[in-house]
Amino acid sequence: RPPPVEAPDAKSEGTKRVKIGIYFATWWALNVVFNIYNKKVLNAYPYPWLTSTLSLACGSLMMLISWATGIAEPPKTDFGFWKTLFPVAVAHTIGHVAATVSMSKVAVSFTHIIKSGEPAFSVLVSRFLLGETFPAAVYLSLIPIIGGCALAAVTELNFNMTGFMGAMISNLAFVFRNIFSKRGMKGKSVSGMNYYACLSMLSLLILTPFAIAVEGPQMWTAGWEKAISQIGPQFIWWVAAQSVFYHLYNQVSYMSLDEISPLTFSIGNTMKRISVIVSSIIIFHTPVRPINALGAAIAILGTFLYSQAKQ
Ligand code: 3PG
Repeated sequence: RPPPVEAPDAKSEGTKRVKIGIYFATWWALNVVFNIYNKKVLNAYPYPWLTSTLSLACGSLMMLISWATGIAEPPKTDFGFWKTLFPVAVAHTIGHVAATVSMSKVAVSFTHIIKSGEPAFSVLVSRFLLGETFPAAVYLSLIPIIGGCALAAVTELNFNMTGFMGAMISNLAFVFRNIFSKRGMKGKSVSGMNYYACLSMLSLLILTPFAIAVEGPQMWTAGWEKAISQIGPQFIWWVAAQSVFYHLYNQVSYMSLDEISPLTFSIGNTMKRISVIVSSIIIFHTPVRPINALGAAIAILGTFLYSQAKQ
């Protein structure tokens, strides 16, 4: 994720807290709705490359309309901006499609349990590729994160290798996205909302040819007819909902980045996963064994310890 652009400290601390609270609550709620519709769509229509593309297309269209009608002010960008955005967009595209492929194969809760291990990837990449070192407590916090994720994975009732690897690839890709966007946002005056809009558009351009190559219109049309015949016309609304909510939750998360530190952001992101894991288990009646839930709880606790250790 891009680094925060701290707002000038004119507002009182109290107002700022309320604002951040509203951002977080909105972000989590939008994310829960996205995850539910996304899974409902994937259950009836298992074409994650297309649904990932539609999410980006919908967000791009919403932002183009907002700019054209003056709802949002278009950003002033130059070639240099798009050049530094390119690696961020590649990583965002890979992370997004990999997470969606994962969710097409396993329970939403399982994908998010594995995704709660993202801090571990962040530390390992920073240590071994960038040569950054951390206090011992940070390394120690990786033990419950990795151990908890491993325990949850081996005891998962509906384990699937593609689902597992998709979530792991998504973790790795999002760590690179964060590193690249940290560099890309430096000294730029583009707001969080517009930064995410540009990211969606560039990711859409990157993803479309791959989606056509991997799945393609023939599969999409046949699958679409089947889904409509099974679900009825409301299936179109499910697709629309997953696309709109995907954009909205990401937009709000990038807007909140304008106000908070990356650390607060990562704590917020972990709490977001708890709400997604719990609500999706309830809604989809996901079978969970106690040992499996214990693994998830240890992994999430490890992420909190990691946040504390990094502070
Ligand atoms: C996606 O489809 O991009 C993933 O669901 C994103 O996951 P995250 O925003 O919860 O990391």
